[in-house]
Amino acid sequence: MLSHEDNTLITRVSPGTPMGETMRRYWIPALLSWELPEADCPPVRVRLLGEDLVAFKDTEGRIGLLDEFCPHRRVSLFFGRNEECGLRCVYHGWKFDVAGECVEMMNEPAELNFKHKIRATAYPTVEMGGIIWAYMGPPALRPPPPQFHWVQMPATHRHVSKVLQESNWLQGLEGGIDTSHAPILHRLISETSTQPGFKPSNPFVRGQAPNLVVDLTDYGYQYAGVRSLGETEVHIRTYHFVMPFHQLRPSRTETGKPSVAGHIWVPIDDVTTMIYNWEYSLGEALNEEDRLERRLGNGPLDVDQVTFRSRKNRANNYLLDRNVQKTETFTGIEGINVQDRALQETMGAIVDRSREHLGPADKAIIQARRLLLQAVHTVQEGGTPRGVNPTYYGLRASEGVLPRDADWRELLTPEMAEIDILQTVQPALYAGAKVPDAGTCGNKATR
Ligand code: FES
Ligand SMILES: [Fe+2]
Repeated sequence: MLSHEDNTLITRVSPGTPMGETMRRYWIPALLSWELPEADCPPVRVRLLGEDLVAFKDTEGRIGLLDEFCPHRRVSLFFGRNEECGLRCVYHGWKFDVAGECVEMMNEPAELNFKHKIRATAYPTVEMGGIIWAYMGPPALRPPPPQFHWVQMPATHRHVSKVLQESNWLQGLEGGIDTSHAPILHRLISETSTQPGFKPSNPFVRGQAPNLVVDLTDYGYQYAGVRSLGETEVHIRTYHFVMPFHQLRPSRTETGKPSVAGHIWVPIDDVTTMIYNWEYSLGEALNEEDRLERRLGNGPLDVDQVTFRSRKNRANNYLLDRNVQKTETFTGIEGINVQDRALQETMGAIVDRSREHLGPADKAIIQARRLLLQAVHTVQEGGTPRGVNPTYYGLRASEGVLPRDADWRELLTPEMAEIDILQTVQPALYAGAKVPDAGTCGNKATR
């Protein structure tokens, strides 16, 4: 459990809040790359950590992420004209470049040079792994780009999606680092069911209640759920928690290819979260079926691609089917991540953690809370929080059934990180990230 005070401290993310200031020290997914498909395309509204923003791609392909409201008289720039290297407010024609500089004012005489005094709040972005990431913290403290192993995978093998969750971000994260629920909530109760879920014969389900092993690292922790499988074997599933909101796990694609997958729980505000879902195949390229994410319920069949709201949602009880619950699945709700979101939303917008009863199976959750609170205190004291430095770059995850007396750390550790990447931390891949630079539209270099 947490005290009311700590629960408030750890969950609130608006500007000026301790956790909000801490989270602003990391790169944060702002939108998917395909939402800004081409130069001068329509701007997109983005809400991040309680701030209303607007994203646009300028004539030169540079990405701007500005305060949604025009500095003149606070009209929404979402309604603006994206033209000639800037976003122009349609009320009085003030125009802003991707760095937030006011480059033109249609309602003031040019000789006044008033435009030089005006700036819109603008956040730097980097495009990696099919996601446009934003940095909203102090410019001097901007960390290296979020060059996770998975963002470096070729687009043919990688898939990214996003979906809205109607709860505080920490409830989502805690579900993602809670291995003990997975073979329970997501199990099938019939071996022949065609619903998504873990079959009764799956060792993940057959295993006994897990023993959790949490190894602290400088990015967060790696952890394993160790489940006994009879006299001679154990099932081991390893994960990583990367501060402040990333989960990495072993997985399989929709069509059964071994993969590594993960989620990122990004606070839209205190009571709404955008979950980014990513996966890459360890074998052959992904196909269209893999990208539909039917099993997880995160794809275009299940999630509106404009609002990113799940079609199975709180308003319709996630299309819970009591007959399916009796005969096929533990929940009666279809879709593994739909099940996660459903249960986490039932906890309320921000769960009251002073009323919980945690046990040893909640060890990873307890540890994550400790690390998050520690990061808040580190930032308050002027330090650098865990997970900002690029030691997470090579991480991946693994699972397997091993002999009971095997040294699972020794066997699985090589599969939990791409050592080559850690060793080289490629400058060439840095160069692949689209950081806006000086253009030829007569505007200044951006950030
Ligand atoms: S409100 Fe935007 S230019 Fe006047
Ligand atoms: Fe789950």
